[in-house]
Amino acid sequence: MDDLYREQILDHYKNPHNFGELPDADITQEGDNPLCGDVVTLYLKLDDGKLGSVRFRGRGCAISQASASMLTDMIVGRPVSELKHFPTSDLLEELGIQISPARMKCATLSVNTLRVALNGGAAEVEDE
Ligand code: FES
Repeated sequence: MDDLYREQILDHYKNPHNFGELPDADITQEGDNPLCGDVVTLYLKLDDGKLGSVRFRGRGCAISQASASMLTDMIVGRPVSELKHFPTSDLLEELGIQISPARMKCATLSVNTLRVALNGGAAEVEDE
C-alpha cells in the first residue's frame, strides 16, 4: 500500500498541481524550512469568503513540494473561515505514508504557510 502512496507523492512532485503564480493574488505568502532552506510560496485569490484560486511555487524535497501540490487541490473553493484552521492531520492523511519526525517539517511546510497567510502572520503552529 505504501508503494501506491509513494508513487502518488512522486507524481505530485514531478507534475505539481496548481503550480505557478497568481498575478492578481490577494495574499502572497512565503514559508521556508530553516533547517534546509526549502521554500513554498502560496498565491491566494479570495472570492466572496472562499478561496477562489490558488497557485504555489517552491523548491525543495519531494515531500514538501508534493504536499504543497496536494494541499492546493484540497483547499480550493473552500471557505476561508474553515481554511484558517485547516487541520494538519488532513494533509498528512492525504500523503498517506508514515512521516518520520525528521520529515514532519517537510510535510507541513505548505499547511503552516497557509495558516500564516490566512491568520495574518499570527499562526499557531501545532504540527509536531
Ligand atoms: Fe527541506 Fe524537506 S528537506 S523541506
